[in-house]
Amino acid sequence: MSNENLGDSVENLLTENRTFPPSAEFAAQANAKPEIYEEAERDRLAFWEKQARRLHWDTEWSSVLDWKPPYVKWFIGGKLNASYNCLDRHVIEGRGNRVAFHFEGEPGDTRTITYADLLADVKKCANALTELGIKAGDRVAIYMPMIPEAAVAMLACARVGAAHSVIFGGFSADSLLARILDADATLVITADGGFRKGAAFALKPVVDEALKSKTNVRNVLVVKRTGQETAWSERDIWWHEALARQNPEHVAQPFDSEHPLFILYTSGTTAKPKGIFHTTGGYLTQAAYTHQNVFDLKPESDVFWCTADVGWITGHSYVVYGPLINGATQVIYEGTPDTPHKGRIFELVEKYKVSILYTAPTLIRTWMKWGDEFPNKYNLKSLRLLGSVGEPINPEAWMWYREVIGNNNCPIVDTWWQTETGAIMISPLPGVTATKPGSAMATIPGISAKVVDDEGIEVSKGRGGYLILDKPWPSMLRGVWGEDERYKETYWSRFKDLYFAGDGAKLDNDGAIWLMGRVDDVMNISGHRISTTEVESALVSHEAVAEAAVVGANDEITGQGIVAFVILRGGIPNVGGEELIQELRNHVAKEIGAIAKPRQIMVVAELPKTRSGKIMRRLLRDVAENRAVGDSTTLADPNVMKLISEGLNSGKSED
Ligand code: WTA
Repeated sequence: MSNENLGDSVENLLTENRTFPPSAEFAAQANAKPEIYEEAERDRLAFWEKQARRLHWDTEWSSVLDWKPPYVKWFIGGKLNASYNCLDRHVIEGRGNRVAFHFEGEPGDTRTITYADLLADVKKCANALTELGIKAGDRVAIYMPMIPEAAVAMLACARVGAAHSVIFGGFSADSLLARILDADATLVITADGGFRKGAAFALKPVVDEALKSKTNVRNVLVVKRTGQETAWSERDIWWHEALARQNPEHVAQPFDSEHPLFILYTSGTTAKPKGIFHTTGGYLTQAAYTHQNVFDLKPESDVFWCTADVGWITGHSYVVYGPLINGATQVIYEGTPDTPHKGRIFELVEKYKVSILYTAPTLIRTWMKWGDEFPNKYNLKSLRLLGSVGEPINPEAWMWYREVIGNNNCPIVDTWWQTETGAIMISPLPGVTATKPGSAMATIPGISAKVVDDEGIEVSKGRGGYLILDKPWPSMLRGVWGEDERYKETYWSRFKDLYFAGDGAKLDNDGAIWLMGRVDDVMNISGHRISTTEVESALVSHEAVAEAAVVGANDEITGQGIVAFVILRGGIPNVGGEELIQELRNHVAKEIGAIAKPRQIMVVAELPKTRSGKIMRRLLRDVAENRAVGDSTTLADPNVMKLISEGLNSGKSED
């Protein structure tokens, strides 16, 4: 999104005047009261120290913060164990019988897992990791379906001090391999497969395919989930066999507050994904603090359901670390929301009496499209708070969420944050903030963000600009794994000593923050960040394609849809044919994963470029969104856009 567009969006949103204050009843019982803002404001570091005391520290920190931009350390000298904080503590303090996870598999199989059960599994898994030679500081790749073992694997890594790198189960062998190599993982934890859309899909063969290349992976630990036929080699070990032979005891060792906890790859503006890495003390502090205050968690009575997969940061912070530290009871679900019917999520809300539901706008819009009859069939009265994350939620979807899912009775928290920020940064507090449909409202206590112009000067109310964070926060990324220059260049070079999030935002006349989407070439597809360059590289790797340009075009359901413009190589037969288009779409799915499959591919003769050869994606976006093409005076060849528009119908494809 260019800066001019930021200005345009400002106009549209200024017409949104509705506000929804919390009910007196909700406010009275809320965890976070209005004073919390003043408390954080008065002494920010003392505030964060207080939040850190939520955790069990084996050794207390000697100083709170060491900030030498862009490098930060929190709770210096402190020592703790992440898995101890998520599990042992609850069991020791008498909460072992509390349900940690109500697991629902897509085929309908269920498991009830208490904190004591989870701890027992994590201890055995930690011992199995040690048996396989995994030590503190090593990296372990986790490539799994959304089953409880995924959380067990993450916590077992944390327990022995190995950093986990979870790779979403929808990624291809090539994407998996790139991430295994980048982090130099020595172990892969996977499953034979998982269930999705009513069928078993395979994971283990994808790992085998990736490991045909040379890596330092010594073993593959395999959970039996589907029971499908699986090729087997010497390095493969069944999870159930490895765990069964372990000593049930395992004493968690404390690690330094700044010990690496995990790496999670996210799309950047170049083809290579960035390994965002997080450390222990600060990350856990902010995950736990936000989870308790933003979601108003009452661990004894609430049932919390965050629908994110553990392959994304939301699954790390609000399925694993935040909720478990807070002793929450959660629902986790393996499958898709329309299997076996479009009311599946609502059916589970009713079944488990879910009280807090945290999901993404793309799913909310999908539900709207399917129709109210699905949620209306179920009793959703247990819900008392709703959350949204991953992309801007349009006011219409926000209102629908409030009325149809929340029965006009639940505060909505629209939470803005990123893989890089580790935890929620901008969000209403449900018992305090009068919310506006579509706005994430304000920074949470302890966090400081600003909207600035090109020069880094704060914009006035009613204006748009770039979203920056001007003070370090505990769950801040500590770097890009192995790429220090890239860390500085990506986040810290645009404005001196200010973290640039890559998002545009505007302030309304009351100073509320409205997120406007990415300003760079990263698309947001169903809440997942995919870079245009990544998809372009995948297209160009196909023998038929000479050049490709990819844009994210507005899409009613997925936020943005991927639209690709390709120039074919001379002499390729079947130019523009439907078969080739399908082949290209499948090729992208194979290279990156199904989420990156272009919605539409248009075959063109030329691409619009500036004189310095930069593709003008803005103009392509106009075409993709069926708008009149904007100012093209900086084009090297002014005729190009005419040619593209004329050839528009030559290569359309949608499914
Ligand atoms: C977008 C997901 C508007 C934003 C936690 C950000 C949002 C990117 C919101 C991070 C929101 C996330 N409103 N936009 N409430 N939440 N985004 O790393 O563009 O997968 O930079 O983290 O998603 O995506 P990521």
